[in-house]
Amino acid sequence: MTWIEKHYGRLEEQPGFEEFHHEYSAAIKEVDTKIEILSEDFAVRHDYNPIHHIEKRLKTPQGIEDKLRRLQCEVSIPSARENILDIAGIRVVCNFVEDVYEVAHMLTSQNDIRVNTCKDYIANPKPNGYRSLHLSLMVPVFLLDGCIEVPVEVQIRTVAMDFWASLEHQLRYKKDKEIPPRIDIELKACAEVSATLDKRMQKIFNELNKL
Ligand code: GTP
Ligand code: MG
Repeated sequence: MTWIEKHYGRLEEQPGFEEFHHEYSAAIKEVDTKIEILSEDFAVRHDYNPIHHIEKRLKTPQGIEDKLRRLQCEVSIPSARENILDIAGIRVVCNFVEDVYEVAHMLTSQNDIRVNTCKDYIANPKPNGYRSLHLSLMVPVFLLDGCIEVPVEVQIRTVAMDFWASLEHQLRYKKDKEIPPRIDIELKACAEVSATLDKRMQKIFNELNKL
């Protein structure tokens, strides 16, 4: 146990926690506003909006502590800043697969945003069938004493991918119950069916646009 953990214990009790928390909540607002503006601009210019809805969440202090312990990192504010890039999280749920990439492009081409990583679990689904586009971004936040860059994780996926992920998440977090292998197999099969549905719906949409 390090000095800071011994003296302060909980993250919330450590000096600078409020400032730390505020930076991430401000970063969520910045990205949320950017996406809102893109969405409104679509409404103004086109009769189609690729964004179905947006969700946002700030990791709880307990969630941050648990992740630091899982990563075997010190439970301190500097350590959280350095080691956890998904304290601020935004999920953009789109109608179609092409919309996912369109929204990702619109966001990452803004010149005040820096891209840390881009994980394409749509092109390369996880072994359990999970699909989504994950961007780890650095976003500028202007505070009283200047500008800082804050990491924000943006997950972009279709309504169908989101439907699957929320069910899978519910099952995975039922910690008291063992999930039988046949359920894993069935869930993966559902992810494939849902990806096929996404492809077919995209095709219909593209064909309708050509009429
Ligand atoms: P975390 O430690 O959870 O942040 O994982 P990571 O940093 O390796 O990143 P990854 O891109 O694998 O996953 C980040 C987030 O994506 C998770 O916190 C979930 O919100 C979501 N996610 C990733 N894999 C799955 C999955 O198999 N099922 C569901 N439902 N969500 C997932
Ligand atoms: Mg993560």
